[in-house]
Amino acid sequence: MQQAHGKLLITGSSGQIGTELTGTLVERYGADRVIATDISKPGRKDCNTAALDVTEADSVKNIVKKEGVTTIVHLAAILSAKGEKTPDFAFDVNVNGMRNVLSAAAAVSGVKLFFPSTIGIFGADTPRDNVPIETITRPTTMYGITKLFCEQLGEYYFRRYGLDVRGLRLPGIVSYKTPPGGGTTDYSIEMLRAAAGGENYTCFLKKETMLPMMYMPDALGAIVKLLEAPSSALVHRTNFNVMAFSFCPSDLENEIRKINPGFSVSYAPDERQEIADTWPRSLDSSAAAREWGFSAKYTLSEMVRDMLMNLAPLPEK
Ligand SMILES: NC(=O)c1ccc[n+]([C@@H]2O[C@H](COP(=O)([O-])OP(=O)(O)OC[C@H]3O[C@@H](n4cnc5c(N)ncnc54)[C@H](O)[C@@H]3O)[C@@H](O)[C@H]2O)c1
Repeated sequence: MQQAHGKLLITGSSGQIGTELTGTLVERYGADRVIATDISKPGRKDCNTAALDVTEADSVKNIVKKEGVTTIVHLAAILSAKGEKTPDFAFDVNVNGMRNVLSAAAAVSGVKLFFPSTIGIFGADTPRDNVPIETITRPTTMYGITKLFCEQLGEYYFRRYGLDVRGLRLPGIVSYKTPPGGGTTDYSIEMLRAAAGGENYTCFLKKETMLPMMYMPDALGAIVKLLEAPSSALVHRTNFNVMAFSFCPSDLENEIRKINPGFSVSYAPDERQEIADTWPRSLDSSAAAREWGFSAKYTLSEMVRDMLMNLAPLPEK
C-alpha cells in the first residue's frame, strides 16, 4: 500500500472505468482514504461512498472541504454517442462539471486533480496516423468539443492558480466488468460479449474502421502512473496521448474467430460511423512514455483471449 495523505475523491465512480479504477485505488491507498461518488450513491462496500452531482458547484466544494480531499479523480462525463443524443446535457455535465471540480480543487491548497480526456478531441482535419499531442484539433461532437475545452481549462488552472492538474487522452477502452456508457468504440465490447454468449453480432461501424484502443488493466496502470508521477517531471499537463494498439472491427472479428471459428459479424453502420470517421487511427504516445513511464502490456490477441475467458469459459485448446 502506498503512503499518501488526505482523501481521494472519485467522481463518476459507477461507470465503466470508475468501477474498476476505484477498486485499484482502494487497494493502493486503503479503503479509509477513498470516497467513491456518482450521481446516485454507489452500491459498493469496499470504500466510503456518497452521491455527488458534479453540476452542483456547492456540493462539490463542500465535499472537498469537509472530507479533507487532497486528490480528485474526475471521471463523470457524458460520452460521445450519448452526448450526440443529448448535447445540452453533455455540455452541462462535461463543462460545468469540470469547472466545478477545478474550482473546488483550487480553493484548497495542495490538491491534485486527474481527469481523462479522449481521442474524441481530434477531428476530421487531424492527420490520421501516429498523431502527435500538438496537432489540428477541430472536434465535431459535443463530447470532443467539451473535452478539448476541459484540457484547456485544466491548463489554465495550472498556469493561473498553480493547481496540479493532470490528464491523458484515452483511446477506446475494452473491459468486461461494467458495461460501457455510450461511446463510439463500445462495438468492440458488444462484439466480444456476443461471441462469449455464443451469438453472432451486427456491428454499428464499418469493418475497416481502424481506431486506437487499450485493454482496461493497461488503462488503470496508466492512470495510476500519471497520478503518482512527480509534478516536476511533467512537461505536458492535460493532453498526454496514450494507446496500446489499433484495430478495426474485422481485425477483432478475425481474432475472435481464432478461438471461436463459428463466430460471424454482419455490418450495419449507423450514426456512430460519422463520429468514428473523424477520429485518428493511431496516436504518438512517446511523451507519456518519456515523462511518466507509460507502457501497455496487452496485445490485441491477449486482450481477446482474456476478455472471452472472463465473459465465458473458453473451450479446451
Ligand atoms: N470508456 C472509454 O472508452 C473512454 C475513452 C476515453 C475517455 N474516457 C473518459 O473516462 C471517463 C469515464 O468514462 P466511462 O467510460 O467510465 O464512462 P461511463 O459513462 O461508463 O461513466 C460515467 C459516470 O459518470 C456518471 N455521471 C454522469 N453525470 C454525472 C453527474 N452530473 N454527476 C456525477 N456523476 C455523473 C454516470 O452516472 C456514470 O457512472 C470519462 O470522463 C470519459 O470521457 C472514457
